[in-house]
Amino acid sequence: PESIEALLDRLCAVIPDYPEPGISFKDLTPVFADGEGLRRVVDALAAPFEGRFDAVAGMEARGFLLASAVAYATGTGLLTVRKGGKLPREVFRRDYELEYGSASLEIHQDALKPGARVLLVDDVLATGGTMDAAVQLVEQAGGAVAGVAVVLELDGLGGRAKLAGREINALQLA
Ligand code: PRP
Ligand code: MG
Repeated sequence: PESIEALLDRLCAVIPDYPEPGISFKDLTPVFADGEGLRRVVDALAAPFEGRFDAVAGMEARGFLLASAVAYATGTGLLTVRKGGKLPREVFRRDYELEYGSASLEIHQDALKPGARVLLVDDVLATGGTMDAAVQLVEQAGGAVAGVAVVLELDGLGGRAKLAGREINALQLA
């Protein structure tokens, strides 16, 4: 059977010099558009953590695509980590740095049952700013981080170091 890495190589679209010269952009939308691709990726994200989490947290926006499917496939709950200013009730908030400027993520203060074991899911781990903010929010809300699962880990941007001590499942290093 085709390995998950080979499947990603086959279905991922690579756009040279996007969004700027020298950057080779990995576009996962064709993976998600393929029935087998979506199913294999979702199953592979969750597999190492089987039986060790009670809920899945997804980060707006691309993380939502995967976290929802992982939660459904594993019979667990889905937690919403949104960009700043979108959630209607009391939130915890983390500001984080982007390449240009900054952004914020929020979670409802009562989003988690105390001690809930949470798997955090996103499409890409780059600098780790997004994932680190989400990890802190889950813990602030009383959760225990079971691990981090991403499709692509971009090498050399420091994401893994930023998440030191966390269990990380990256399906492909790029
Ligand atoms: C992208 C990607 C990850 C994040 C990775 O999200 O979906 O969430 O960047 O980068 P980092 O590790 O350096 O934080 P982005 O904020 O571009 O927006 P989107 O998910 O809403 O498309
Ligand atoms: Mg994102």
